[in-house]
Amino acid sequence: MTAEYKVHGDIAVITLNNPPVNGLGLATRQGIADGLAKANADAAVKAIVLTGAGKAFSGGADIKEFGSPKAMQEPNLGSVILAIEYSAKPVVAAIHSVCMGGGLELALGCHYRIAAPGTSVALPEVKLGLLPGAGGTQRLPRALGVEPALNMIVSGEAIKSEMLAMLPGQKLFDKMAASAESLAEEALGYARSVADARPMPLVRNLPCTHPQGDAYFQFARNMVKGMSKNFPAPAKCVDAVQAATKGKFEAGMATERELFINLMWTPESKALRHIFMAERAASKIPDVPADTAQRAIKSVAVIGAGTMGGGISMNFLNAGIPVTMLEMKQEALDRGVATIRKNYESQVKKGKLKQDKYEQRMSLLSTTLSYDDLKDADMVIEAVFEEIGVKEAVFKELDRVMKPGAILASNTSTLNVDSIAAFTKRPQDVVGLHFFSPANVMKLLEVVRGAKTAKDVMATVMAMAKKIKKTAVVSGVCDGFIGNRMIEQYGRQGGFLLDEGCTPAQVDKAIEKFGFAMGPFRMGDLAGNDIGWAIRKRRSVERADMKYSKTADLLCEKGRFGQKTGAGWYDYVAGKRDAIPNAEVIKMIEDYRKAQGITPRKISDEEIVQRLVYSLVNEAAHILEDGIASKASDIDMVYLMGYGFPIYRGGPMNYADQVGLFNVVQAMKRFAQNPLDDATFWQPAPLLARLAAEGKTFN
Ligand code: NAI
Repeated sequence: MTAEYKVHGDIAVITLNNPPVNGLGLATRQGIADGLAKANADAAVKAIVLTGAGKAFSGGADIKEFGSPKAMQEPNLGSVILAIEYSAKPVVAAIHSVCMGGGLELALGCHYRIAAPGTSVALPEVKLGLLPGAGGTQRLPRALGVEPALNMIVSGEAIKSEMLAMLPGQKLFDKMAASAESLAEEALGYARSVADARPMPLVRNLPCTHPQGDAYFQFARNMVKGMSKNFPAPAKCVDAVQAATKGKFEAGMATERELFINLMWTPESKALRHIFMAERAASKIPDVPADTAQRAIKSVAVIGAGTMGGGISMNFLNAGIPVTMLEMKQEALDRGVATIRKNYESQVKKGKLKQDKYEQRMSLLSTTLSYDDLKDADMVIEAVFEEIGVKEAVFKELDRVMKPGAILASNTSTLNVDSIAAFTKRPQDVVGLHFFSPANVMKLLEVVRGAKTAKDVMATVMAMAKKIKKTAVVSGVCDGFIGNRMIEQYGRQGGFLLDEGCTPAQVDKAIEKFGFAMGPFRMGDLAGNDIGWAIRKRRSVERADMKYSKTADLLCEKGRFGQKTGAGWYDYVAGKRDAIPNAEVIKMIEDYRKAQGITPRKISDEEIVQRLVYSLVNEAAHILEDGIASKASDIDMVYLMGYGFPIYRGGPMNYADQVGLFNVVQAMKRFAQNPLDDATFWQPAPLLARLAAEGKTFN
């Protein structure tokens, strides 16, 4: 049983005890129901206190039950709340630390609520594409007032209990405890003081109106729709709260239930719930137990103070970890430090960073030209030029100076981490840490596990990633790791689409309408078309059989590298990011088609989206099969956090699952018939073909 029952004189105390946050799983719900029954049957008990052990009153639904039938099994949360309301003896919720989702709904069912200051109070269901489904949309507006309640329900954000207690006329908290420490004692006293009061108050009986009536809700609905156009849940929250103002509590509950069930089935909510679980799953590595001992990371060294080195350093400075940057020349160090300063100063100007915090962070940064100054660092991250000879020289130096047990990481984006590890006599300490640009902003971190990388190194860097607020995903060693290996196929499809009749703008618009932050050509212009050009030149030696459109090379031959040269697939006006189509580029593509003897055809947006997205999916299936990624949800995280895949579609694998893998495979077979495309590539990866045939999904 995950709820304890104890009697203190004439007061029974039911204490939720389901660590870490007293999630309301079946056993906990049963525990509450049993406690209520016991207390009501015991003539010596006059009132009941409901509270939570440890770090929370309750964080709400138990994520282990997510989406399983157990979540609805009786006594479900609605039934437990009813049992509280019908209790013949008053129930006092003693709330502290965290009171969220179902936890808040449970408290709202109690006759009285006493809260400790500092409690985070929220109904965060909207963040999973849902709305509170156990009366939250009906009771919170009654307890708190329509507007503050609607704001909480639509935003899902937590508000501190002492702030809520200050709202005029609020009935959410009957009393604020002096402190979290005194809450238990005060709750017992409060329960005694109300033990004989009859009738017992119920939130459901409170009035619920808004002075502007339906006009207010129309206004709220318009606001919400503008702000969350791809997500249906916020507008449904408005509908549910509006129903609370229509008088009959039971009718409002029925509306809430219906809206909740409909939202459960939306692809947007499925995507958000998938991401919630995927994020938690990403930090778990199948063969690295959670209790693996970690190495201490108290100081970090960064080699190279360029674009990546500076951004990487900022992550650690932000987390309060001292950083030493090393370069070959003082000028390069000065430039690197100046860029970091400029970044922080712009945050200070925007009011996002306090002056003293800025100074404190800068004080953690030191620079050097000598490797000997790095010998005490617990971890070093190399971010020098992407040339294997340069990496070799750096790693030999690191091997010479770094203390035993230091973690040696490389930020390489294309080189083989095992080869880099082999430059040292300690390959077990070497790992790839592939940050994305700008490294101080982008959430994604690909952790590249070498053949010899030690398990405790993996455990350490995964924990460190959390500390610097990154979403870390483990990738095996291969060309491009997870993200760039997939994006190469996507880029190749973009090229074929140009060959066959599209303009860059048509391709970009189609995939942006699908929800990508940026289409492939705008993305190329942002990242620099010369980067891909350099990679293709290298590939043309290594993988000469790889078919691709030559249009991107022709573009680079014109010096159109993208935003940095003011011209790429599009033109750019200095200081602006608007992509302006360029007639010369269109003509270049047309000339190329003619030279290849291709008659252009009209291509639908649907075909564009399918070819781009399914190219990701097919390559991802190979990546899974090769063991480069250990689970499909990791691949989704890479694309959501690092490549602008639309959140409400849950990542390429989740999207493919929702389309149905059978349909995905059928489309691939169609694409394979196109002589201008790459028929070999469109052979469905064996894993994908098998799952499709068995009617299964990736996730
Ligand atoms: P960058 O050219 O901006 O910076 C490299 C810095 O390393 C320069 O300041 C240079 O002076 C310094 N450097 C070169 N050789 C050195 C040596 N032997 N010792 C000390 N310092 C040395 O390059 P960027 O873009 O920062 O890239 C660095 C690494 O990060 C590369 O491996 C690259 O593939 C990788 N990367 C780059 C991304 C990007 O978007 N720019 C994204 C992810 C990884």
